[in-house]
Amino acid sequence: MTVQSVRLFGDPVLRTAADPVVDFDKELRKLVGDLLETMHQQNGTGLAAPQIGVGLRVFTFDVDDVVGHLVNPVLEFPDEEEQDGPEGCLSIPGVYVDTKRRQNVIAKGFDQHGEAIQIVGTGLMARCAQHETDHLDGVLFVDRLDSERRKQAMKEIRAAEWYNPETPPVVKASPHGLFGIR
Ligand code: NI
Repeated sequence: MTVQSVRLFGDPVLRTAADPVVDFDKELRKLVGDLLETMHQQNGTGLAAPQIGVGLRVFTFDVDDVVGHLVNPVLEFPDEEEQDGPEGCLSIPGVYVDTKRRQNVIAKGFDQHGEAIQIVGTGLMARCAQHETDHLDGVLFVDRLDSERRKQAMKEIRAAEWYNPETPPVVKASPHGLFGIR
């Protein structure tokens, strides 16, 4: 397992939809290990493969000490309940903006050995599953904000020490469906 560098907002890999995992092989287990190690080194709640430059549908999470990973995730929402609270991203360091998400989610997918698993998440776990699955579609949390909050986020991003005006990050102009049901 190796700590990888986390790609920052503005890197095109974060805007590229990731491919489904087909081979549940040694490479995949190394990817899961690298994601876990990198996420923990950065004290992250979650990390998606594109954030370390790998275009595969895999993410890891550590929510209230529940640590795991999910391959080829598909989200289901059992009800209409919403939550609103601060959200951040290791690819947009130091920026936290209140973001509306669904309160409850069932995330279905596979573990690194190809066994079908599901995660029933509420609150922060549900937020994490939605945030990380978005990454696999090239979507970032700033895309989920209403225009006022997005303006605030972009202001903070432009003021951040990591911001590179030569590769300015783009917020998608036409907002997606708020809750990523597809
Ligand atoms: Ni993120």
